[in-house]
Order: sequence, then structure tokens, then C-alpha cells
Amino acid sequence: MFNVNNSILEHGFINEAISKEIDIIEAIKKLKKEKNAIILAHYYQTADIQDIADFVGDSLKLAQEAEKTTADIILFAGVNFMAETAKILNPTKKVLLPDTLATCSLAESAPYVDFKAFVDANPNHVVVSYVNSSTEVKAITDIICTSSNAVQIVNSISKDKQVIFGPDKNLGNYIQNQTGRELKIWQGACHVHKQFDLERIIELKNLYPDSKIVAHPECEKPVLIVSDFIGSTAAMLKFTQTDASKTFIVATESGILHQMQKAEPTKTFIAAPSTDRTCACNDCEYMKRITLTKIYLTLKYELPEIHIDESLRLKALQPIVKMLEISKLHGL
Ligand code: 13P
Ligand code: SF4
Repeated sequence: MFNVNNSILEHGFINEAISKEIDIIEAIKKLKKEKNAIILAHYYQTADIQDIADFVGDSLKLAQEAEKTTADIILFAGVNFMAETAKILNPTKKVLLPDTLATCSLAESAPYVDFKAFVDANPNHVVVSYVNSSTEVKAITDIICTSSNAVQIVNSISKDKQVIFGPDKNLGNYIQNQTGRELKIWQGACHVHKQFDLERIIELKNLYPDSKIVAHPECEKPVLIVSDFIGSTAAMLKFTQTDASKTFIVATESGILHQMQKAEPTKTFIAAPSTDRTCACNDCEYMKRITLTKIYLTLKYELPEIHIDESLRLKALQPIVKMLEISKLHGL
């Protein structure tokens, strides 16, 4: 998907020393203006990137924003499936991703060949895929969903139809639970969300008995069972703003805490701990590959750029458009 045949790209990004004299934030703002570019950032980006972005959102809102932008360049501060979705929806724009190695363990847990075999082995099923999937997987999907609209998407499918859901098994189980429908679920998962430690979350809850646990549906079932609220990153953010509690234990990637704290400075937000005590496991290392320096160089050189074969793009477009139509009907 990437045009990596350019000598200035090293290790998936432009590796050039930047003079300490440069005010990187001012330089990014200047380049954005000169080139009529916008920066779309996911909630899992670092705080400095969220603060310079033109729009910060969850996967659904970012896709909607990418579809309607009139900017000439979309710089995606997120991971590759998000930038590819932007290109699929708005192909005349130049879509840039500052690091080609910003991938997604969940999307990679469904390699195209294996997922296609799964689809072929289950004929006459409607295929619903999470947006965290490759463009090739999207191209053999009937309807895409995000964590914001997954339940509504599955509910939109006639009850007499059988449904395949992939690649996230935890989101799939959550949808099953919410819709009462039996789904054929691909057994993929996100390495960040599957690592939250139930025991340590409960220890925290005991320490802060008035707190609320909020979780993303990509978390494992035991974490979801003890949670007070389950939703997409945008829905979790809204919940922490409207709920009267003063303390929240947040089971998703830690980047979202920045927006939560910004919106509610007097409330306390605690990142849910992971099973591995030796790492900052609630940080997605793919999301965190994007830095201000890489954003600056990417805007300057307009590389790395997302390229998608047109026939593949058209196949992947249909299930995304269906998702956007259904979302609109539900006011999402
Ligand atoms: P949402 O943006 O839909 O909340 O999903 C989170 C995610 O996993 C992005 O990688
Ligand atoms: Fe993918 Fe998980 Fe990172 Fe989201 S947090 S981009 S699902 S690896």
C-alpha cells in the first residue's frame, strides 16, 4: 500500500536530523497552511499530537471526517488501516501516514488468505468485518463496522441470515451478547486490549470503591463483566463526562486519558493495569510510532503516501459506504 521506493524513507519513515532551532509545532502549522493539509488523529496518539491535530476522534468519526474533508492532504496520525480507510473514502486526496510500520496487531491477526478460506468455508453468510482489518479483508466483506456502530450494523442484518464476524473475537462475543445473535467469529485479538489484568483492576476498584470501570469492547470478557460501561473510545469519553463519578478506571489504550482529563480536569482517571508488570502494555506501540518529528518530515516531503490499487479500493469501498449509511440512520 505504500510507495516506499523513495530513498528518503528509512525503516518506514523519513529519518532526517532536525535542527534544534526549529519550533516543530509552528513548523507543522506553517506546512499545514501552505499545503492545505489537515491532521486527523486517533485518541490513542500522544497528547502533543492530539493537541496539534485538526480533528481527534475514534475510528468512525475519523473515517467520516476523512470522507468529507476538502483539504488537499490528509495526514493520518494513527495506524495504517485508518489511513487506508481515508484513502478508500477520499481517493483524490493525498493521504500520508508518518510511519509505514504503524500497523495493528488485530488487523494482522486476520491474514487475507486465511480469512478468505474462513469466508469460503462458510458460504451464504453475511460477512461483517471490524474496520481494524486489511484493505484486502475489507474487499471480501459485506459490511464494515467500528466499535461505535457494531451492534447497530449486526442488528441491521435480517434475522434469517447467518453472520461471520472478524477479526476481533472479544468484540464479536460482545456483539453476540448485545444482539442475542449467534455469530461465526474469527479468533483474532488486539495485543493491548487482551492484556488487561482483571485481578489488578479489582484491586484498584477496592482501593477506589466509588470509581467506575470503563472498558473498550476489545477487552477480554472477564474485564467486560466487571465494567460499569463498555463502549468505543468516543463513547467512553462521553460517559466520563456525563457520569457523576469522580474517579474512573480506564481499560483501553492510555492515549484516551488525555482527552478525558482535558474535558474533566477535576476528575481522576486511572489507566487500567496489564498482566505484564514490566511494560507500559496499555500503550499501543504501533500508535505510538507516530511522533511530532515524523509528522513534520512527512508534511515536508509528502511521504510516505498511501496508494491503493483502484479495483481493490472499489471493492473495499462498498462495505465501508454501507457502514456509513447505517451509522447515519442511527445518528452516529
Ligand atoms: P475505536 O476508535 O473505534 O474506539 O477503536 C479503537 C481501536 O482499536 C483503534 O485501534
Ligand atoms: Fe490495533 Fe490494538 Fe493498536 Fe488499536 S490498540 S491500533 S486495535 S494494536
